Amino acid sequence: MNNFQYKNPTKILFGKGQIENIASEIPENSKVLMLFGGGSIKTNGVYEQVSKALSNFEVIEFGGIPANPEYDVLMEALDIIKAEKITFLLAVGGGSVIDGTKFLSAAALYEGDEPWDILKNSIRTLKGMPFGSVLTLPATGSEMNSGAVITRAETKEKFAMGGPGLFPQFSVLDPEVVKSIPQRQIANGLADAFTHVLEQYMTYSVDAKLQDRIAESILQTLIEVAPAILKDTSDYKAASNFMWSCTMALNGLIQQGVPSDWAVHMMGHELTALFGIDHARTLAIIAESHYKVNFDDKKDKLAQYAERVWNVTEGTKAEMAKAGIEKTTKFFHSLGIKTKLSEYTEDYKGTAQIISKRFEERGWKGLGEHGKVTPETVEKIVEMSY
Ligand code: NZQ
Ligand code: ZN
Repeated sequence: MNNFQYKNPTKILFGKGQIENIASEIPENSKVLMLFGGGSIKTNGVYEQVSKALSNFEVIEFGGIPANPEYDVLMEALDIIKAEKITFLLAVGGGSVIDGTKFLSAAALYEGDEPWDILKNSIRTLKGMPFGSVLTLPATGSEMNSGAVITRAETKEKFAMGGPGLFPQFSVLDPEVVKSIPQRQIANGLADAFTHVLEQYMTYSVDAKLQDRIAESILQTLIEVAPAILKDTSDYKAASNFMWSCTMALNGLIQQGVPSDWAVHMMGHELTALFGIDHARTLAIIAESHYKVNFDDKKDKLAQYAERVWNVTEGTKAEMAKAGIEKTTKFFHSLGIKTKLSEYTEDYKGTAQIISKRFEERGWKGLGEHGKVTPETVEKIVEMSY
């Protein structure tokens, strides 16, 4: 196992009715900016619950943060934060709203000229404006980690940012919010969380037995609850397990002491930036080709995954590893997620070259756990994903 230092300061308030407890988590006399998305919270009762809980605070609202949070929209919120002297941010939404809030937390205290530099130059945020979240969509893990991904439509770019100053102070995980989530987003949540685990697991062994077992158990739980939550979003037991699995998939725990990959995400982000494809679906498009192209490096872990997660017991190590890749693609299909780029856009030709050129220009010369996934390899992987 590799050395690590781990601290996760986010307090989790899990379960039915927990939204009413947020007032005691926000510092007294705070001036709160409540941030939300396109309006789902106005129709599913979450808005009322949050407003009631905040009744003793001075609150300003900012709605309209789109999926794949847009820089220009967030800059409008930043103006409000400054003009109104906001002291606390509350994200009420899915990964996009929480990520947008993280960007604002960083940008509010940023002293440079252009907040876009935080993203473009990967500036880590050591201290941000304090914020909390009320999660409405299990998927990203953003509610308990310190990363964010921001999009800029103007330049078709999507960049990640983060830093130890960007953990939410608290996050409410009330599985009842799952009830109103459309099937497409439930499927996205399952696929995104599943891939988060794979990115931290499908590398090479450093004999971190516990991290491996926790990762495998998150995958198994997602596989087990997927049919139930897709069938009935008001199944509270399934919703609880779905929600906590998504959080555990990317709150840093399984990443400690082990190598991680994240190349699937780096390529996937480009597909969202170029075509607007849902984040989770871009991962399903890239994963199979990535594992095939990097088969030799990942074979041992792929075989372990096939055996322990999918109960594949027959065949050589290479055959089992191959079965693991096939099972993964079948799992995405079982969620109703297509796994080829050409199934999402007719404009796919040339995408591999565009992405590989972008990576070359950004100096992203070696992705993955070995730093071996060069722009040339990226080109090959994306081409195989057409
Ligand atoms: O905007 P509203 O009206 O709220 O509707 C949203 C949105 O249209 C809807 N929704 C959310 N909760 C709902 C609901 N509809 C009904 N009932 C509810 N309870 O769902 C739609 C999608 O929401 P979004 O927040 O965009 O989805 P998700 O949570 O999947 O977030 C995706 C974003 O997170 C980033 C992605 O790149 C993408 O930009 N990621 C963030 C990560 C992180 N911070 O750690 C890691 C991930 O890998 C990912 O990259
Ligand atoms: Zn993701």
